[in-house]
Amino acid sequence: MSKILVTGGAGFIGSHTCVELLEAGHEIVILDNFSNSKPEALNRIKKITGKDFKFYEADLLNLSDVEKVFKENDISAVIHFAGLKAVGESVQKPVEYYHNNITGTLMLIQAMRKYNCKKIVFSSSATVYGVNNPVPYVETMPTNSSTNPYGYTKVMIEQILKDVYVSDNNWSVVLLRYFNPIGAHKSGLIGEDPNGIPNNLFPYIAQVATGKLEALGVFGNDYDTPDGTGVRDYIHVVDLATGHLNALNYALEHNGVEAVNLGTGKGSSVMDVLHAFEKACGKELPYVIKPRRAGDIATCYADTHKAKELLGWEAKYQLDEMAADGWNFTKNNPNGL
Ligand code: WQD
Repeated sequence: MSKILVTGGAGFIGSHTCVELLEAGHEIVILDNFSNSKPEALNRIKKITGKDFKFYEADLLNLSDVEKVFKENDISAVIHFAGLKAVGESVQKPVEYYHNNITGTLMLIQAMRKYNCKKIVFSSSATVYGVNNPVPYVETMPTNSSTNPYGYTKVMIEQILKDVYVSDNNWSVVLLRYFNPIGAHKSGLIGEDPNGIPNNLFPYIAQVATGKLEALGVFGNDYDTPDGTGVRDYIHVVDLATGHLNALNYALEHNGVEAVNLGTGKGSSVMDVLHAFEKACGKELPYVIKPRRAGDIATCYADTHKAKELLGWEAKYQLDEMAADGWNFTKNNPNGL
């Protein structure tokens, strides 16, 4: 039976997507180098689904390791998550980000082409919309700028995949532009488990709730938003995972290149998220107002029409459920996986 290769499948979004793929009856193969994930995530996927799968601990930069996966398995499509993704870190380490994300993807594409696997769902990001587009972001808007090297790797990989299709129309490419994924699987067995002090809002609040961190620093309350704090389109990670399942089914049936936003179409402020988490954990959480963070924009949220029309997908979960499920995971795994 043909299988779906999931690169970065041990990670936050990758592991949730693997659960949905397995429960939908797909056979999967996971490739991961554990640079931002842990082997325990693989055990948790098996525990949730009761299903097994092949795993390769490998780095996309090693072409022979990547080709081995295709040589040993009949791969019909790839969902490509593997990549470095910390915005701030990418400003400090641009060479590592361009090499790891771009060269890694080029190695993957070369191996796919060699083994005649020409269907890929790529983990892109709303950061490709840059700072000059009006909200809500629409897929037809220009996406040729970013505010950081991480965002530029997504812009460049989208361009590479578009050019691959132009060179060979047998390819099928779906570029999924995520907004802000948060929350966790309802089992509380998998969730966001970042290494070190979290860069992102939601896992940071989670660690304030466990007492691991003292207080949330709110990066600016003087934006042109309802309560002055940054507004983002937070989407439940399980909604994001089912979006990948729909995108994969679309890619298996079509050729061409499609960019699709995966968001809720609704903006929530930093304070909205903090209050939702307080409701979930049943206690007030301390915060202090800090200066704005470099590179941040005031407001970012998705236009969701294309996902509904093309993929038959829309987000189901609201912010309160994202917070409740995120807290459930944190409560059950205070020290991560
Ligand atoms: C959200 C809001 C901050 C931390 C990033 C990536 C993006 C995507 C999602 C991968 C902002 C505020 C945050 C904190 C705060 N990842 N904040 N205190 O920056 O919207 O997007 O994650 O694709 O590529 O850029 O997410 O969670 O860092 O910030 O006040 O300690 O929370 O200013 O308004 P962001 P975030």
